[in-house]
Amino acid sequence: MDTSSENMESQRQTLKLVTPLTLGRYHISEEYGFLLQNPLKELPEQYRSWMEIASELPHLIESRQLRAHVYKMPLLDCRFLKSHREQRLAHLVLAAITMGFVWQEGETQPPKVLPRTLAIPFVEVSRKLGLPPILVHSDLVLTNWTKRNPEGPWEISNLETIVSFPGGESLQAFVLVTVLVEKAAAPGIKALVRGVEALLQHNQDTLLQALQQLRLSIQDMTKALAQMHDYVDPDIFYTVIRIFLSGWKDNPAMSEGLVYEGVATEPLRYSGGSAAQSSVLQAFDEFLGIQHCKGSVDFLHRMRDYMPPSHKAFLDDLHSAPSLRDYVLTSAPSLRDYVLTSGAGCCLMAYNQCVEALAQLRSYHINVVARYIISAASRARSKMPSHPSPHALEDRGTGGTAVLSFLKSVREKTVEAILHPNA
Ligand code: HEM
Repeated sequence: MDTSSENMESQRQTLKLVTPLTLGRYHISEEYGFLLQNPLKELPEQYRSWMEIASELPHLIESRQLRAHVYKMPLLDCRFLKSHREQRLAHLVLAAITMGFVWQEGETQPPKVLPRTLAIPFVEVSRKLGLPPILVHSDLVLTNWTKRNPEGPWEISNLETIVSFPGGESLQAFVLVTVLVEKAAAPGIKALVRGVEALLQHNQDTLLQALQQLRLSIQDMTKALAQMHDYVDPDIFYTVIRIFLSGWKDNPAMSEGLVYEGVATEPLRYSGGSAAQSSVLQAFDEFLGIQHCKGSVDFLHRMRDYMPPSHKAFLDDLHSAPSLRDYVLTSAPSLRDYVLTSGAGCCLMAYNQCVEALAQLRSYHINVVARYIISAASRARSKMPSHPSPHALEDRGTGGTAVLSFLKSVREKTVEAILHPNA
């Protein structure tokens, strides 16, 4: 490093040390985490034709009428979408119509062109938000929830989606269980910010409390995820719902991508919607200093381009924050000498408990994936042994990964981050 870049690096270090992470700056809420606070259910009157289609989406897809409706859509100007919440709802609505349009007839012969009346406003509102023009986790989950009784509890029975796909109650629950997982993560995100502050101030007691709060939050996420089994039918997920989350990148069914008419003449390629686009676990990985292997990092970092830019910025800034892992490692001269009742020893234990809880969450998630994708795929195969072509998406995630090897590697790297006092 030459002198000028050394100076710049030291300025950056100083800057990062004096700039606390405040959640509001990144459009993250202490109460709701990354979920959009009170998402809108309606767009301004000018956009009635979009909302009419969106509110009938499951029926229009199932009766194979959606494409005909899209071809009749007027070309609307996005200028009247003023607020952030209006733009987020417009993105959700246009993304959902796009997925329905593309996959209405299943995997066979998806269209090559998205009509201009849909493509132009969708790309315009995507640019305003800094999101790609495809359905993303921030649409399907973060923007797609409302409470039936605003004072009522955070439970499936008191929640509903704003926009739906075919799949009935399983579809609703697939979205809403994920909403509950995001909600359960909110105290963990708050704790993590407190933890960074504690590191900056060398305040071991606060750090310890923050780590304990983070562990509880991760364990609550696992409990929330378990509700998937109570409410979502694996066969409906695999045979009905999943296709509407699929994208046109790394997808053999649409290897050429999709032309957004009126926007670009060349086809564009985007990955499908996946909770791998959630910022939560990536934030925990950054804070806990968990390092994944190159292939996984490439995919996980690519997924950051599918997050709202302010959430992505939060992850980038967390990456530059003082390292918790270094602190835990260096606060005692040797791990061998750790006395687990000392302040430093308690921090090591609390750190390990967070990492273990995260590994357990990832193990649980792998079981969910095995049930909802791997087993469901083999059942679907045995029911249709003479299916003309294998399902292109069979063993791939909607984000396009070779599912199990990726998820197991991510889990193994989490386990490897555990610090062993007897080392
Ligand atoms: C039926 C339920 C679910 C299924 C079938 C499922 C499936 C998958 C698949 C296939 C992947 C690999 C990436 C891809 O290609 O998309 C993945 C990754 C991921 N999923 Fe899920 N998922 C489910 C629920 C959830 C929920 C509720 C969350 C919580 C927000 C979640 C969080 C993640 C994360 C963070 C990753 C990235 C890998 C990691 O960091 O461990 N998933 N999921």
